[in-house]
Amino acid sequence: MERISTELNKKDVAFDNNLRPLSFSDFSGQAKVRDRLELAVQAAKQRGEPLDHVLLSGPPGLGKTTLAFILGREMGVSVKTTSGPVIDKPGDLAGLLTSLQPGDIVFIDEIHRMQRSVEEYLYSAMEDFRIDIMIDQGPNARSIRLDLPRFTLVGATTRSGLISAPMRSRFGLQNRLDYYDAPELAKIVKRSAGKLSVEIDDEGALEVAARSRGTPRIANNLLRRVRDYAQVRAGNRISKDVAASALELLEIDPHGLDEMDKRLLETVIYKFGGGPVGLGTLAVAVGEEADTIEEVYEPYLIQEGYLERTPRGRVATRLCRERMGVAEPSGHYSQGEFGF
Ligand SMILES: Nc1ncnc2c1ncn2[C@@H]1O[C@H](COP(=O)(O)OP(=O)(O)OP(=O)(O)O)[C@@H](O)[C@H]1O
Ligand SMILES: [Mg+2]
Repeated sequence: MERISTELNKKDVAFDNNLRPLSFSDFSGQAKVRDRLELAVQAAKQRGEPLDHVLLSGPPGLGKTTLAFILGREMGVSVKTTSGPVIDKPGDLAGLLTSLQPGDIVFIDEIHRMQRSVEEYLYSAMEDFRIDIMIDQGPNARSIRLDLPRFTLVGATTRSGLISAPMRSRFGLQNRLDYYDAPELAKIVKRSAGKLSVEIDDEGALEVAARSRGTPRIANNLLRRVRDYAQVRAGNRISKDVAASALELLEIDPHGLDEMDKRLLETVIYKFGGGPVGLGTLAVAVGEEADTIEEVYEPYLIQEGYLERTPRGRVATRLCRERMGVAEPSGHYSQGEFGF
């Protein structure tokens, strides 16, 4: 999925920003996360205090950055953004934190990629709102203490498993975003279509939603392509048929699976006879890191019922075999014993 976010060109990014919801009321889905954050915002505002630090985790394109900006807007503070790999020395962090106004939000994207040496400085900044920085070297070396305004750190990560325990424990509000179901995505598609001035009916929106891998960013990107089609060939109206024809023309998988999804499922089915196969073995077979599979790819495949996690490993389900065009094994073989 990393591919999808990095492949976005400039136009796509502008488009992404255009459609980004600006308030909780515009943000569909993730009801629990939204509720919790809304409550925390209200409570903090009533007390006149900054919001507690917030960790947002979950696969790419589900709304982490969007939520960080919504928090800023709802709290009435500015949001300074940076990302884990960009802060490569403690001085960079000190520079950023000392430039804040009280209550401001610092948004650190890909916080799991922050260097350990910088991370340690962040601990005292988050907890005590101060940072001790070493200046000079050799005999003149001394540390100076900088007091920081009370700020809110919003950290985002696609790989929550890589966040260290001390880091994690400093976030008062920890939230995981999950894939959206089709009706939620359809709602997002309708809202985006309105912003793009193209007409779409409920079934058209569902058709786009069903192929979006549970991900708003993908839904918006597909909508954009379907809009081109509708504009040129269908009087700027997106119905179920128009959406289906456009997506077929683009060779978008009817169930929203991407290349890596298919590779994973095919590997379980063909190389490992449907499973069970251990995560490590599967990772080597598809040439991807085990924890990327576990945190980025697999959750969607499990949620949609293609894969099952068993104590002995991953198993392809009946649905998976059907979708991959493989016949059911005949009854007298138990799961995992049939060969191909
Ligand atoms: N709940 C939502 N309602 C409406 N639109 C949404 C929602 N969540 C995300 N989007 C749309 O999807 C796009 C991608 O969301 P966002 O950039 O917040 O994802 P992300 O989780 O930060 O992804 P990454 O991990 O790649 O940084 C946004 O520009 C926004 O238009
Ligand atoms: Mg983001």
